[in-house]
Amino acid sequence: MLNFGRARPQQRSSRPMSLGGMDYADPKRKNGFVGKILLAAALTALCIIMLKQSPSFNTPSLFAVHDPRVTHVLVTGGAGYIGSHAALRLLKDSYRVTIVDNLSRGNLGAVKVLQALFPEPGRLQFIYADLGDAKSVNKIFSENAFDAVMHFAAVAYVGESTLDPLKYYHNITSNTLVVLESMAAHGVKTLIYSSTCATYGEPEKMPITEVTPQAPINPYGKAKKMAEDIILDFAKNSDMAIMILRYFNVIGSDPDGRLGEAPRPELREHGRISGACFDAARGIIPGLKVKGTDYSTPDGTCVRDYIDVTDLVDAHVKALEKAMPSKVGIYNVGTGKGRSVKEFVEACKKATGVNIKVDYLERRPGDYAEVYSDPSKINRELNWTAKYTNLQESLKTAWRWQKLHRDGYGSPLVMSS
Ligand SMILES: NC(=O)c1ccc[n+]([C@@H]2O[C@H](COP(=O)([O-])OP(=O)(O)OC[C@H]3O[C@@H](n4cnc5c(N)ncnc54)[C@H](O)[C@@H]3O)[C@@H](O)[C@H]2O)c1
Repeated sequence: MLNFGRARPQQRSSRPMSLGGMDYADPKRKNGFVGKILLAAALTALCIIMLKQSPSFNTPSLFAVHDPRVTHVLVTGGAGYIGSHAALRLLKDSYRVTIVDNLSRGNLGAVKVLQALFPEPGRLQFIYADLGDAKSVNKIFSENAFDAVMHFAAVAYVGESTLDPLKYYHNITSNTLVVLESMAAHGVKTLIYSSTCATYGEPEKMPITEVTPQAPINPYGKAKKMAEDIILDFAKNSDMAIMILRYFNVIGSDPDGRLGEAPRPELREHGRISGACFDAARGIIPGLKVKGTDYSTPDGTCVRDYIDVTDLVDAHVKALEKAMPSKVGIYNVGTGKGRSVKEFVEACKKATGVNIKVDYLERRPGDYAEVYSDPSKINRELNWTAKYTNLQESLKTAWRWQKLHRDGYGSPLVMSS
């Protein structure tokens, strides 16, 4: 490693310097100047020779060249919850992975876990960048040879989107356009896009299939639908292989306990039910606030389809493997089974062993009563089925990680190596 810190004071030496058996000092100092020039030239030449012999000289980064033996996947938002789990799975399956993230919501700690697991050259690199910065994104694409992109990066809280809609249209819709333009400009052939069941809004008929009309009712769902529309319009005149995955509610964490879900504390109030449940179990918050008990559902609380993150990333890998040039595949990724918030809370109490206090409150704006998927298309076409369907077990796995990582991954903004 080069050390540019403190340099030792250099002593002027009057002794002749010998290099390769040649003396460059003239005792009469007549040719001193010429000698110095020759010495400098010789040293420069020596440096060049040494650099050329070093394995990294002239060899472009492994990430910069296409290798027919390995698929290089750009994982945007790979420092976040789902993106980090996807990166782990891709690395386990011998893909080459580049994570791009601005750490606005993700954790450098998750990237460090992955780097420690896969330290070999050419396996994983992390690039700190904001996808809203088209110039930087374009530079990343010009310096790296991506074969595919999994575009996870997004702000992703329904409640927050109702309070700050422009942030959502910018971060989701506009940034997807930036990614797509860079992919097109640099000939990247495959896109796996993270969409959401929020694009369907509140359909009258359950379960939701891929042909259920999309009528989102909050800015988050609308921004994702707009991003989907951009991708679909682009696809009409492109040979890109595209898969759009519409996830339902994601829970759980790596069964081997290496990664977990660690949202920013300031996002807790917008947070997802599993995060709130764990916070309540740890006493960080006094209890759970269930918003809405008068929905037209069996027990009055909202019904959702909870998909384990391990199953979700499996769907991504299957989508990547089956993506076809000039084709768009759209798939719901859910279990096909709706669970009420009350059921969820009971499972959470059992998984954590804590009798969590529950307050039942008014409805929250932007929430829909009942949402669950029909996953038969993805079962049939991608040969994918949810396997981690025991709510309590998924929560238990996530709780194990939460208990061992009380501060999540630690400070998210420390950028040391
Ligand atoms: N979690 C769910 O239940 C769920 C459900 C449906 C869809 N999704 C979608 O899945 C994707 C991942 O969600 P998640 O739960 O992992 O969220 P997350 O907040 O944990 O991860 C998102 C990541 O994207 C990064 N990011 C955000 N804006 C960025 C930008 N401008 N430039 C670079 N990086 C940026 C964040 O720093 C973070 O690491 C999102 O697209 C989300 O809409 C999530």
